[in-house]
Amino acid sequence: MEENLPALRERFDADLAIVNGENAADGAGITAKLADKLLAAGADVVTLGNHTYRRGGIASYLAASERVIRPANSGAEAPGHGLAVVEARNGVRVAVLNLLGQLFLPTPVSPWEMVDALVDEARAAAPVVFLDFHAEATSEKVAMATWLDGRVTAVVGTHTHVQTSDARVLRGGTAAITDAGMTGPHDSVIGSRPDGPLRRFTTGLPVRLEVASGDVRIEGVLVECGSDGRASTCELVRIHVELPA
Ligand SMILES: [Fe+2]
Repeated sequence: MEENLPALRERFDADLAIVNGENAADGAGITAKLADKLLAAGADVVTLGNHTYRRGGIASYLAASERVIRPANSGAEAPGHGLAVVEARNGVRVAVLNLLGQLFLPTPVSPWEMVDALVDEARAAAPVVFLDFHAEATSEKVAMATWLDGRVTAVVGTHTHVQTSDARVLRGGTAAITDAGMTGPHDSVIGSRPDGPLRRFTTGLPVRLEVASGDVRIEGVLVECGSDGRASTCELVRIHVELPA
């Protein structure tokens, strides 16, 4: 899928590309090799989520990486960084943050406890601030966007894999969407072949899940902003991909 990124950047004339990669390794976690592949394909920053440490070797990779970040509220002992500062193609500095929601997720530290200090740190480093808020509940994601309206450029929700129809720019100039959606196979139960999750739900037994393959889409969101960090547009991206047979 990453091979589509250079053409997508050109098509949308994107000065920056942020990819959530927490499910890049067969639906659970990411490896160092896959993270490098995403960066080489043109991702400026890769964000993660609740599956950050699922794969061996990733902890030391994250500890050394400036551009592959894990949720900032992963706990004091978690290797890696929760904030990346990069320069966009047009020369504007951009700070990218990653936080986990606390509702229905085993989150070590409440995002609400640390978000203000984190945003202050990001704003001191860059005029454009982007938050990937990796969370389960729509209420918490909408609340976070509302809380940060006027202080950050965008609050983009991830984790639930189903693209929501609420892409908008809030009154204070913050772009927001509850969930950017899933890049992957949509003929599935959020990425898995349906037989596995259906067996889990109907029997309550543990079942190994397999990645599905049908109806592959690239989903995300396109945010336009000024060099002052104020967003002007926030639009859904949904592209069907024909994979080679
Ligand atoms: Fe997740």
